[in-house]
Amino acid sequence: MKNMCAAVCALAALCAAVRCGAAQTDVERRVEETLSRLTFEQKLGQLWQFSGGHPSEAASSDRSKGALDPKFLEAVGAGRYGSVIGKRGVSNYNAIQRAAMEGVGIPLLIGHDMIHSATTTYPIPLAMACAWDESLWERTASAMAVESLALGCNWTFTPMLDVALDARWGRIAEGGGCEPLVTGLMGAAMIRGFQGSDMADGLHIAACAKHYVSYGASFGGRDYNAVEMSDSTLRDVYLPPFKMAVDAGVATVMPAFHSFNGVPCSMNSYLLRDILRGEFGFDGMTISDWAAVRELIRHGVAADKADAAVLALNGGIDMEMVSDCYVETLKSAVERGRVTMKTIDDAVRNILRVKFRLGLFDRPTLDADALAKAIDPAANRALARECARKSCVLLKNDGALPLKKGVKVALLGDLSASDWQMLGCWSTRDLSNFENATLLDGLKADGVDVNYVEAYTLTGRVDLAAVEAAALAADVVVAAFGDYWENSGEGNSSAILELKGGQMKVAEKVKSLGKPLVAVVFGGRPMAFLGLAKTADALVMAWNPGGCGGWGIADVMTGLAEPWGRLTVDMPYATGTCPLYYSRTTTGRPAAITAEHPFGKRYTSCYNDAPFVALYPFGYGLTYTSVKYSGEKVAVEGGEVVFSADVANTGAREANELVQVYVRDEVARIVRPRRELKGFKRVALRAGETKHVEIRVPVSSFGYTLNGVRAVEPGWFTAWVAPDSDSGRRLRFELSAADVASR
Ligand code: NOJ
Repeated sequence: MKNMCAAVCALAALCAAVRCGAAQTDVERRVEETLSRLTFEQKLGQLWQFSGGHPSEAASSDRSKGALDPKFLEAVGAGRYGSVIGKRGVSNYNAIQRAAMEGVGIPLLIGHDMIHSATTTYPIPLAMACAWDESLWERTASAMAVESLALGCNWTFTPMLDVALDARWGRIAEGGGCEPLVTGLMGAAMIRGFQGSDMADGLHIAACAKHYVSYGASFGGRDYNAVEMSDSTLRDVYLPPFKMAVDAGVATVMPAFHSFNGVPCSMNSYLLRDILRGEFGFDGMTISDWAAVRELIRHGVAADKADAAVLALNGGIDMEMVSDCYVETLKSAVERGRVTMKTIDDAVRNILRVKFRLGLFDRPTLDADALAKAIDPAANRALARECARKSCVLLKNDGALPLKKGVKVALLGDLSASDWQMLGCWSTRDLSNFENATLLDGLKADGVDVNYVEAYTLTGRVDLAAVEAAALAADVVVAAFGDYWENSGEGNSSAILELKGGQMKVAEKVKSLGKPLVAVVFGGRPMAFLGLAKTADALVMAWNPGGCGGWGIADVMTGLAEPWGRLTVDMPYATGTCPLYYSRTTTGRPAAITAEHPFGKRYTSCYNDAPFVALYPFGYGLTYTSVKYSGEKVAVEGGEVVFSADVANTGAREANELVQVYVRDEVARIVRPRRELKGFKRVALRAGETKHVEIRVPVSSFGYTLNGVRAVEPGWFTAWVAPDSDSGRRLRFELSAADVASR
């Protein structure tokens, strides 16, 4: 029977592969057929993503309101554009696609940044990463896909896969944090969610892996700034999430704005042609970032638009976003032999392939009613609330949380009652069509006796008398700290991560009155809040939790939900210690923090005025119970290394422990990280329960790249099975030459 099942499964897999192969051949046949009937101008049209088309286009990126410009529709019919940017609404979407199909016969990709929000706004990606939950990531993207279609958009510029080590970089908000494994898993799950198993089923859209690659390593954390890095670091830290995205079938890839080792990513054939297409086997399309082709002139590598177009196209950019260097100049570039017709045809092929895979030729228009039926707004809001619950991280708790039943709470600070401030850097910015939950709403909904007094704004007015009056009338003070979401995201690098304005005055005032202080920190990046961490009795990192954020955070604060989130970044003691990341490489003079040398000893690798380590490290997050690890073990079994531990819930409440595995290569030919995350598992534990947890990691994961070659070396490794990147008992294992060869 067992053999028969195996045979049936093998046959089914074979049939699926044959079906998939046949579909692929069909797509290629249709691509060639379409390409062969296009004029040169129409081919160039496919290579352009246009940003206009609407009389009020300057006003907003929401182009769904009002009629389209007839001249624009005429140009669409003539095949002047391969894509447009900006959500258009279903009726404008359909008008565009009808014009395209009646004219040139090729539908358009209609793209928009549905990053953490289409109609429903979920927490920002950095917050979502802290949930460490692949199913949640996938479900959220899948819900956003249908909402995106209903807004007239078949393509999203998500996920952002930039490993971000530097909290000064505002775009740290848009990705998974500092860890390639978490970033890659989240990206792959989102791609599965957006694209489904069949992008053409009418409920999914094309995803875009961006910003290829190393954008998060810009010098000084300054946006758009240059990056210089070794090939080993590129391959071991920054490329893996993109490889995982390609393996997950991502339809499109967007190169970053910056220059990588002197060559802008928008023309970098080493990155785009040799690695992405050559090594990873990517056969989808690439799209430049916004006007990034024209920006090659500003980079000082292109003399003019013609030069920029030649460099970008030959470098590997198929479609140009917004600027018009390709359409304006490529004709003469071909005539002068600066680009070949084959290069242009290949770029068009890549674009058409995505359009066929997306099913646009077979189903060019959208059915607004069917989409409306497929969306369950209440379910999406419940999902957004679950996301907010799971992405906030409890960083400190001296017993003030969960809030005890019946306590009188004074709720302070402008952020506590602002639905706008729940949103985040890529929200829909449309508060009109759904309910946004503030922290005040959330606490009220969970039955808390709460008295809200604004008393201060984050960066402005502080009314200490109001703070005092509210605090004295309450048992517990809950107050909002951090930063406004408008200060993170693109073009928002910060040189100061310490809390601004009079925030610390508020915290100190509450403490001086002897009232317990629960600090809820909002913001799109790690902040340096040492003073607050010392002063507050409990500290919740709430990030930008999305439209249902207040409900989710309140659920955790009241104990209706157990704390779930764990940091995917390190929280610094001071801005000057950034970039800060747990996986820093070892040095010849490693520093240690001791009672005698709280910052580390002189002549070791440290600062003389602040600890070089994290205030709260990667992987960290508390629960309302206590969890004990014992019997940690590691064994090498065939092609895998098996890490295990007995994990016991020694407290009185449920736990959702995140068991993490870290490894360090003890002796290698290049310096290696002091610890690297290799795996994790979520374990549900009832009060008093113990579970044996096993995490298997393939031997191939323990390699590194030297001189362009990634290999696993035999030798000793240190390992930790631990609740975060700073703790755990030291284990060791050895990979023999045979283990390495057998992988
Ligand atoms: C610029 C951003 O860098 C990119 O992430 C975004 O997708 C495009 N603009 C389009 O809005």
